[in-house]
Amino acid sequence: EEAEKGGYDHFMLKEIYEQPRALRDTLKGRISHTRDKVVLDEIKMTAKEIKNIKRIVITACGTAYHAGLVGKYVIEQMVRIPVEVDIASEFRYRDPLIDKETLVVVVSQSGETADTLAALREARRRGARVVAITNVIASSVAREADDIIYTWAGPEISVASTKAYTTQLVAIYLLALFLAQERKTMAAGNIKEILDELKALYSKVQEVLDNDQPIKEFAEKYCRHEDAFFLGRGLDYAVALEGSLKLKEISYIHAEAYAAGELKHGTLALIVENIPVIALATQQSLFEKMVSNIKEVKARDASVIAVAMQGHTEVEKVADQVIYIPKTHPVLAPIITVIPLQLLAYYMAVNRGCDVDKPRNLAKSVTVE
Ligand code: AGP
Repeated sequence: EEAEKGGYDHFMLKEIYEQPRALRDTLKGRISHTRDKVVLDEIKMTAKEIKNIKRIVITACGTAYHAGLVGKYVIEQMVRIPVEVDIASEFRYRDPLIDKETLVVVVSQSGETADTLAALREARRRGARVVAITNVIASSVAREADDIIYTWAGPEISVASTKAYTTQLVAIYLLALFLAQERKTMAAGNIKEILDELKALYSKVQEVLDNDQPIKEFAEKYCRHEDAFFLGRGLDYAVALEGSLKLKEISYIHAEAYAAGELKHGTLALIVENIPVIALATQQSLFEKMVSNIKEVKARDASVIAVAMQGHTEVEKVADQVIYIPKTHPVLAPIITVIPLQLLAYYMAVNRGCDVDKPRNLAKSVTVE
């Protein structure tokens, strides 16, 4: 086992550091040489079938569900089709509105999650076409879906999902861009711009990984707290949910993610002196709003670590500490934003002496309901 960890203390850390390579593998062969077209030969839908999609439903569990939440923002923005995201264990028990004109996307690292598989079967029974995004070749989900986008992340051993999430995001971006390209809902220049940025992502992720010192320091300082809050707006809210899950599952710290605009509707009552707040402020169009939300928690003496894009130095005036991520297209920011959150969860857990790779009560693949 030690040899398999390749010199890292835990599989989780190894897998976090594998992300630049994994992201490159997910993209390989899926962008044309001229970088202006998505090549997704694995989607076998005809042009007519693509044109006839009226709704998209994404269903998954846990981290894969959080990738789906990013997918909602991205697909709605790029393809202008309504997208619903549903937890797989809820989806099939509520008589879902699914028909031949619905495209169902199931996301599962293992491809064996019982609820996700059951949701896939339910969707197909109701006549929907199912696209699977999975990491495991010939897994149950892959075998039963109509189309499969493999994430090529390589084996993920740690119970806490890291590289599976970022590669799922890439697969979702590729699917969104492919649909936009086929339905002509985006200008060619805009597609190219995002494809160029996607290609540049793995080196930006590497940059964040190389700059882990401030996160280590924050983790050391705050690892004894029993509560933490993650705030964000728009895509940052979806990433906040993932950051909070990661922290809970491996460090056993109670963490909550909130859409920052919801603070005043209840959560602010829980913000007390010194409580760690991780505030995500990577979305340009929402930046000013996030700065106001940070001020709200600072006024209650919370300790704020913010994640912002390089150049947005204004956030330094309101947060205690800022982690800057390299500039990218705002729509792609989640892939980079989540990296410091994965590292934060990891170092918090290590400092608390937790069994990082095998957190209590959890299994890597949940094959029972
Ligand atoms: C994430 O860190 C989890 N351990 C968990 O939420 C996981 O993502 C979920 O169980 C879904 O697994 P799957 O992707 O293999 O379907």
